[in-house]
Amino acid sequence: MKILVLNGPNLGRLGTRQTDVYGLTTYDELVQICTEVEPEADVRQTDDEATMIGWLHEAADTGTPVVLNAGAWTHYSYAVRDAAALAPAVIEVHLSQIAAREEFRHHSVVSAVTRGTITGLGVEGYRAAIRALQLH
Ligand code: DQA
Repeated sequence: MKILVLNGPNLGRLGTRQTDVYGLTTYDELVQICTEVEPEADVRQTDDEATMIGWLHEAADTGTPVVLNAGAWTHYSYAVRDAAALAPAVIEVHLSQIAAREEFRHHSVVSAVTRGTITGLGVEGYRAAIRALQLH
């Protein structure tokens, strides 16, 4: 089943970035984990907001469900939210427990247009999100 797994800014640095918060799994390992759960998962990362919005438009045009970790855009990008609202089904994932971190991370402007949100379970959250999309 085709699923887009879309990762926003700084997530390409997984494995070396704030490992106490995000864990030791590298971005390449994350890609492998996702494709183990769903061989047709198309896992991407960008630091460019316009690219992310283009990918969400692609999901809308092709009817492809999305696992979305929008990184810091989660907390302020109405443009990413509006694009996510067009996709057929979006599950929002955060590696860290954003509710237990700095105040600015407590609110997601994206959540309201998603089917569900998984936070704080590390890479396990991606597995769970992909499985949930496979079931529906
Ligand atoms: C994150 C949480 C965000 O607050 C942060 O900006 C990230 C990663 C997470 O996966 O926990 O880049 O989305």
